[in-house]
Amino acid sequence: MSAGIDYQTITAHQQETWATGNFHEIARQNTSMAIALCEAVDPHPCDRGLDVACGSGTAALVAARRYCEMTGIDYVPALIERARQRAAAEGFEIDFDLADAQALPFAEASFDFVLSVYGVQFAPDQEQAARELLRVCRPGGKIGLASPMPQGWSFDFFSALARYRPPPPGLSSPLRWGTEQGLEALLGEGCHAIASEQRTSVLYFRSVDHATEVFLTYFGPAIRASQGSATAAQEHLRDDLRAVFSRYNRATDGTAAMENQFLLTMAYRE
Ligand SMILES: C[S@@+](CC[C@H](N)C(=O)[O-])C[C@H]1O[C@@H](n2cnc3c(N)ncnc32)[C@H](O)[C@@H]1O
Repeated sequence: MSAGIDYQTITAHQQETWATGNFHEIARQNTSMAIALCEAVDPHPCDRGLDVACGSGTAALVAARRYCEMTGIDYVPALIERARQRAAAEGFEIDFDLADAQALPFAEASFDFVLSVYGVQFAPDQEQAARELLRVCRPGGKIGLASPMPQGWSFDFFSALARYRPPPPGLSSPLRWGTEQGLEALLGEGCHAIASEQRTSVLYFRSVDHATEVFLTYFGPAIRASQGSATAAQEHLRDDLRAVFSRYNRATDGTAAMENQFLLTMAYRE
């Protein structure tokens, strides 16, 4: 408990939410962000890297293809299991461990670089999660983040979900990590420089309806928002998601190619 917020209970509820559905079915959409992030961080072969809130391991796999020594953590057992299967299928030795981003089970300065793609940003105690990123990254190392921004597709998508399942009172928004001010407040003290740039990734689906179906079937926070609502409200949520997806769809052939602005950040550890 801190500042009147019961982070432990909120973390437990969030863990159940992310364990609902199967984020791996969505994870393919994050591959281009993971590649962009890895190119920006530019780790060298044999560098030790950590992918925080790795889901089914997408960013860790990207870095492992560069012969980096990778570890990934997430707090959803089924996603860690999936990450292990993906690593095995590629013949990579990656340590995928169950852990909370707010309490990383590693000694200080264990990694040359730390990555997170739309992951650590969801930890409720943002200050503690930021301290953990800084603690496990060695002096002179890099922290690379791909973060949702308070505008564009991510803002509209998460706002639509929040209308049906509001976040616990008092919590800072995950979108704070997608602002320069938020990053400075969270990481500024442990870094000698933080550089961010806006990027666009594209989310591809067979159609807007297919995208809506995929998120309502596999994306834990969307399933929970839908489950907590009356039948009429569930239909409204479906309509709201369709509207968001249509707004950002640049395809004109009936398929979906939705543009998502995100903030790509490099934080240089002191
Ligand atoms: C949007 S998914 C992104 C997963 C992965 N980074 C990717 O790009 O495919 C968010 C992930 O963060 C994980 N997560 C959220 N809060 C976490 C926490 N406090 N500790 C560990 N994992 C967390 C969820 O389980 C989920 O896998």
